[in-house]
Amino acid sequence: MDTQGTTFAPATQVITTPQTGNIYINAQPWSLTLSDNLRATFVFDREGRPVSCFLNGCNYRFGLSGLVLMKVSRPGVLKLRRLLADDESAHLRASVREHVTRIADGIAEAVPQEVRAWLEQILAWDEARARADRERFLRIYRPISIVPPDQYRALVLQVTEGCSWNRCSFCSFYRDRRFRIKTAAALREHIHQVKEFLGRGISMRRTIFLGDANALIVPQPRLRELFAVIREEFPGGEEGPSPDLYAFLDIFGAVQKSCQQYAELRDQGLRRVYIGLESGDEAVFRLLNKPGTPQQGVETVAQLKAVGLQVGIILLAGAGGADLSRRHVARSLAALSAMELDGGDLVYISPLITPDDSDYTRRARTLGLAPLSTDELAAQLEELKTGARAATGGRPRVALYHIEEWLY
Ligand SMILES: C[S@@+](CC[C@H](N)C(=O)[O-])C[C@H]1O[C@@H](n2cnc3c(N)ncnc32)[C@H](O)[C@@H]1O
Ligand code: SF4
Repeated sequence: MDTQGTTFAPATQVITTPQTGNIYINAQPWSLTLSDNLRATFVFDREGRPVSCFLNGCNYRFGLSGLVLMKVSRPGVLKLRRLLADDESAHLRASVREHVTRIADGIAEAVPQEVRAWLEQILAWDEARARADRERFLRIYRPISIVPPDQYRALVLQVTEGCSWNRCSFCSFYRDRRFRIKTAAALREHIHQVKEFLGRGISMRRTIFLGDANALIVPQPRLRELFAVIREEFPGGEEGPSPDLYAFLDIFGAVQKSCQQYAELRDQGLRRVYIGLESGDEAVFRLLNKPGTPQQGVETVAQLKAVGLQVGIILLAGAGGADLSRRHVARSLAALSAMELDGGDLVYISPLITPDDSDYTRRARTLGLAPLSTDELAAQLEELKTGARAATGGRPRVALYHIEEWLY
C-alpha cells in the first residue's frame, strides 16, 4: 500500500484540553481512530465514513450498506446482537457527529493539517449524505448476505449473484434472487462502480471476496475471463486490497472442477475456498438438503489441497437436533480428520439459526426430531470446537462463525 505523503505518526497521540479532556488519536493510512477520554471510541475510513464505534457501553459496526449492527456483551449479560432500525441508526450517527464536532472544535489547533482535514471530511457526512450513500450502495450491490469471518474486511465483488442451488433447507441467504453470472463487461462495470463508491475508503479492504454463494461454480472459460478482469483492475501494490481471491463453493459445485482447473485458478490469484460441509453425517446432510455428500466434501478438499489452495470448512452446530446429535458430532469430526487440514486452513462452527417457518424446521418436525436446547447447543458448540482441534492436530484455526455478526 502506498503510504507516501502521509505524515501521521503511527502511534497514538493524546491531546488534552480543558474543553475536551483527553482525546486519543490514532491516524493510520487507512483509518482514523478517536477516543473520547477512553469512554467512547470512533473509527472512520479515509472517506470519513464511520466504520465502528463504542458508545454508552455498546459496540456498533457501520456497514457500507448503511445498516448498523449493535453488539453488547457484558459479564453476566447475555450477548446481544441486532441490526438497528432506521431511526436508531440515524440517532446513532447524529450522536457520533456530536462527539466528533466537540472533539474537532477542541483539538483542531493541536493536530496536524492532515488530521484536521480528515475531521472535516468526517463531519461532512450528515444524515442526508448517509441516506444518499445507502441508495447508491443498493444500486451497485445485491445484499451481501454473508462472507466467512476472516473476510469481514474484504472487498466483495459480486461476480455472481445468488446461489445456483438455493434449496438447502436451513439457508435463506439468497432466496430473494435468481442465480446470475456476470459477463466480463458487467463485472468491469461493477468494479468501476464499487471503486468510485468506496473512494479512498477502499484502503481498509484487505482482500477480495467473490460473491455470492458459490462463485467458483462458474464454468471455467467464463471464470478465466472474470479473473482476468479482476487482475487487471486490482494489480496490487496500490492503495486497496491485495489481489488475493477468496470464495465460497458448495460441495456439488466443487466436484465439477478438476485439479488442473483449480491449479489454473490458483495461478490466477485464488487463495482459499470456503465449503459448507455442515455435517459429516449423511442423515443430517440429507435433512439439510445440501447438494453433494460429506464424502465428496472430503474428496474435494483433498483435490484443493493437492494444488496448494487453502480451505475453510464450516460445520453447523445443532444440525439434526438432539436425536442425531451423537452421530452429527462424531461423523463431522471424522470428516475433518480425513481432510488432513493444516496451518493455512480454517474450521468454522456456525450455530444453526432457523426460524419456525423454515424448510429445515418443518422437515425436522415431520421426522419428530427435537431441536437442541440453548444449553445443549452451547455444549455441542464446545464439543465441536474442542473435537475439531483434536481431529486436526491443532493445525488449522478453529473459530465460531456467527451469521448474525455479519454486516457489509
Ligand atoms: C453461503 S453459505 C455456504 C457456502 C456454500 N454455498 C456451501 O453451501 O457450501 C455460508 C455458511 O453459512 C452458514 N449458514 C447458512 N444458513 C445458516 C443458518 N440458518 N444458521 C446457521 N448458519 C447458517 C452455513 O454454515 C453455510 O455453510
Ligand atoms: S448453504 Fe450454500 S448451497 Fe445451500 S442454499 Fe445456502 S448458499 Fe446455497
